[in-house]
Amino acid sequence: MQTTCKHVAIIMDGNGRWAKNQNKLRTFGHLSGSENVRNIALAANKLKIQVLTLYAFSTENWKRPMEEVEYLMILPEVFFNRFIDELMREGIKIMAIGDLTRFPPNTQRVLLSAIEKTKNNQGLILNFAMNYGGRDEIIRAVNKIADDVRLGKVDSIDESGFESYLMTAGLPAVDLMIRTSGEQRISNFLLWQLAYAELVFTDVSWPDFKEADLIEAMQVFENRNRRFGGL
Ligand code: IPE
Ligand code: IPE
Ligand code: MG
Repeated sequence: MQTTCKHVAIIMDGNGRWAKNQNKLRTFGHLSGSENVRNIALAANKLKIQVLTLYAFSTENWKRPMEEVEYLMILPEVFFNRFIDELMREGIKIMAIGDLTRFPPNTQRVLLSAIEKTKNNQGLILNFAMNYGGRDEIIRAVNKIADDVRLGKVDSIDESGFESYLMTAGLPAVDLMIRTSGEQRISNFLLWQLAYAELVFTDVSWPDFKEADLIEAMQVFENRNRRFGGL
């Protein structure tokens, strides 16, 4: 399919309910969800999408029970150990946004090694939002700008100048934001970057979200009339 959609962002929601519906533990839903990350990343790469940003853990998710948080903290390690060779072969480039310093040292090591290993790849940029919050990102940008003002490096700032302080600096604007599992809210995801994104909400749970669902969302996107305030 031909697409004008460069940057797709997904709120991968519904893992817990999906597992509960099958009388399984929420962590089983997260494991299945992480396996689906591999499937959808390969599909997005095939569709020639430039960037796929996936919301994996929010700054609010620390409120969850300790066992669940601990599982989510080690899941990236399980994911990369299993799939990094395949992602590498497919030419996918790994990136991450969010404050990674609160992840266990081994998770950080595995993630940084995946980023390093894939840094010259030319395919899909697979960008993980981990311990990410849109408000946190904006506040961090403001503080960095304040530092640069004190150092005399900047005196005033415009929109593209501000963007260069965000964690997504250099990436194209989000064209399409998909949220799975029926919830219709942003939950502190990419607040700045979603300003003019097309939003698609689906009732499908993240572990069940297939390549065909991605293509369907992109077809919805293609049929939208993006006016950006014009006519
Ligand atoms: C999304 O699934 C994954 C994360 C937030 C880490 P949830 O865990 O939010 O699943 P539900 O929404 O409770 O079903
Ligand atoms: C958003 O989902 C965060 C991620 C998918 C990582 P949540 O399940 O945490 O969002 P709320 O609590 O329903 O807003
Ligand atoms: Mg949820």
